[in-house]
Amino acid sequence: MSDNFDTEVLVVGGGPAGYVTAIRAAQYDLDVTLVEMDALGGTCLNRGCIPSKALISAANVVHEARNGSAMGITAEIDVDFQQMVEWKDDVVRNMNRSVEKLCKANRVSFVEGRVTFADEHTVHIEQSDGGSDRLTFEHAVLATGSRPIELPGFEFDNSGVLDAKGALELDELPESLVVVGAGYIGMELSMLFAKLGVDITVLEALDTMMPAFSSDLVAPVSSAASELGIETNYGELASECRSTDQGVVVCTESVDGDARHEYEAEAVLVAVGRNPVTDTMDLDQIGLDPDEDGFIQTDKYGRTDVDHVFAVGDVAGEPMLAHAGSTEGEIAAAEIAGRNPVSKDRATPAVAFTSPEIATVGMTEAEAEQTGHTVSVGEFPMRASGRALTTGHAEGFVRLVSGDDGVVLGGQVVGPEASELIAEITLAVEEGLTTSEFAEVVHSHPTLSEATYEAAANERGLAIHTLNR
Ligand code: NAI
Repeated sequence: MSDNFDTEVLVVGGGPAGYVTAIRAAQYDLDVTLVEMDALGGTCLNRGCIPSKALISAANVVHEARNGSAMGITAEIDVDFQQMVEWKDDVVRNMNRSVEKLCKANRVSFVEGRVTFADEHTVHIEQSDGGSDRLTFEHAVLATGSRPIELPGFEFDNSGVLDAKGALELDELPESLVVVGAGYIGMELSMLFAKLGVDITVLEALDTMMPAFSSDLVAPVSSAASELGIETNYGELASECRSTDQGVVVCTESVDGDARHEYEAEAVLVAVGRNPVTDTMDLDQIGLDPDEDGFIQTDKYGRTDVDHVFAVGDVAGEPMLAHAGSTEGEIAAAEIAGRNPVSKDRATPAVAFTSPEIATVGMTEAEAEQTGHTVSVGEFPMRASGRALTTGHAEGFVRLVSGDDGVVLGGQVVGPEASELIAEITLAVEEGLTTSEFAEVVHSHPTLSEATYEAAANERGLAIHTLNR
């Protein structure tokens, strides 16, 4: 390291993009300082992926127990929500401590505080106890993440108007909840709370839920939502929110006209997307100008227009997913260390932890056609999977999309454990495996992964447990 700087690599933000960058850079023997103003682990660990998945698991236990009559199980279920919340908080606290220990063990220096840039190689760090510090750095990696979009008139107050964080930090279950936005967060949390007995009404501007996924992937989730008693209203824009003695009234305008509706509930959860946090660091001091949506443009190694400054995770644009941020962090760290990184153009899966789960990677059939491939598709329905039937969850399918040479270009899964099944398809897409190579791999029986194997065989007209097309 040049003696001119306090640290070789300054990482701003300790979420899954930032702490992974810091640890990887330290593994490459760089001197690293990680600055975070809140808990290590960022939104994902503290206010997003981890607490939501903990509560989703708990709600699934409740739901399974209440719906076991076909298996001969009937039970009176008593939900102690405070205990459930304590358990979820314990999971988060344990993981916080693990991240802290990992940073320490890898010799990453941790500084608590809020960073603003003073000049191209200097930051100010404002600590929560009122103290402040100044640090010079050779390279900086920006990993400050994103915040929920606040609709005008729906200011988050942690009681009547909730963002995902507020919803995941409730210590009492509301009787009813209006959910604005039927995307990832809206549907994951709607299904979770519906399983715990909350009366859910979803308001969505578009004419479908989960617009990021194709309609055949969404259909099983939409039916499951109806079965849970979730009322979904499409084509309605939430435009106004009033608080009342009982909670809130949400007013909507229909997208195609001036019809207005009103929905009452104890609280409203607003999940209409997230914006990058790039407006609080005085980036102009280093000559960085985010685009009109607030994202920082980078090259395939995460390098910004300012040569010694990198950006990873949500601030660097779509996909705004934790694992994408971590991968970008590993690549940026390797680039800074001069370790010939592979570029960030990698097969990146996306998963919605709804019921059933949806998971995708690479191209859909339509995308492959649009890019000039002669497309071939292999599919396998979960109802033909012995393992799926033995779990009582046999809805959904696995689909593999391949080009004329049989190379797997993408895959879509909806059904039990889709979040896990997508890993094998991601491997195939990343490594350019063909469906025949896929179908040569022996899969254990009885497992859900046989569905992927059979989808590969089906593409070649050789599936055993379903009719070939
Ligand atoms: P989203 O973009 O997934 O969905 C927002 C929805 O709100 C859209 O369907 C949109 O049409 C609708 N909408 C917007 N304004 C509206 C209005 N005024 N009235 C009614 N509907 C309106 O955004 P979400 O769910 O907030 O998630 C944000 C991001 O967080 C996702 O894009 C994803 O990157 C990340 N995330 C990922 C998860 C995962 O990987 N499992 C889970 C949760 C979040």
